[in-house]
Amino acid sequence: MDAKTLLRNRRSVRKYTDDVVPKEVLDDVFELTVRAPSWKNCQIARYTIIQDKDIIDKIADQGVNDFVYNTKNLKYAHNLCVLSYVKGISGKNNDEYATSKKDWEVFDAGIAAHQFCLSLQANNLGSVILGIIDPAYIAELIDLPKEEAVAALIIFGYPNDEVSYTSRLPIEEIVRYKQ
Ligand SMILES: Cc1cc2nc3c(=O)[nH]c(=O)nc-3n(C[C@H](O)[C@H](O)[C@H](O)COP(=O)(O)O)c2cc1C
Repeated sequence: MDAKTLLRNRRSVRKYTDDVVPKEVLDDVFELTVRAPSWKNCQIARYTIIQDKDIIDKIADQGVNDFVYNTKNLKYAHNLCVLSYVKGISGKNNDEYATSKKDWEVFDAGIAAHQFCLSLQANNLGSVILGIIDPAYIAELIDLPKEEAVAALIIFGYPNDEVSYTSRLPIEEIVRYKQ
């Protein structure tokens, strides 16, 4: 798949087959994922892969703030990534290259999420990022290291849905040129 096709076809996938993605495939996914850029290459993103259906069901029932749409999609999921980041590093140092803008850790996590999703897609796997979640519940459930914070959930797997694409704003509305 060439890069333009990969980017053009990217979409959120919410229905999957029951297959668990094998570790060998995920090894290839992560070889691509770790190429994501980060603040001063601090690489704070962490990926907890959950393929235990009992844990996924608990998150479906209690980890999505009663948002039934996410509960339903998680109930059908067999592969879930809890994306987290190590707190207090990205953008936080005060050396000679410091900046008044300090909120780079969530920015780094967002880039990591997208690189993970594109790396899955390059392996013919779909994904959807979930932001309506209860980070504290999820962190406790999976025993997340105390120095980390949950950024998002990402359901992934082998797509089993109708291919459809959401609309986008016209490019003229979102892009400005000063020439
Ligand atoms: C930060 C973030 C949070 C999101 N949270 C959810 C969510 O909680 N549930 C969900 O079904 N989709 C969620 N999405 C997916 C968006 O709804 C989706 O990307 C958007 O509608 C555009 O559709 P597309 O990804 O298919 O192009 C989220 C996406 C992002 C980037």
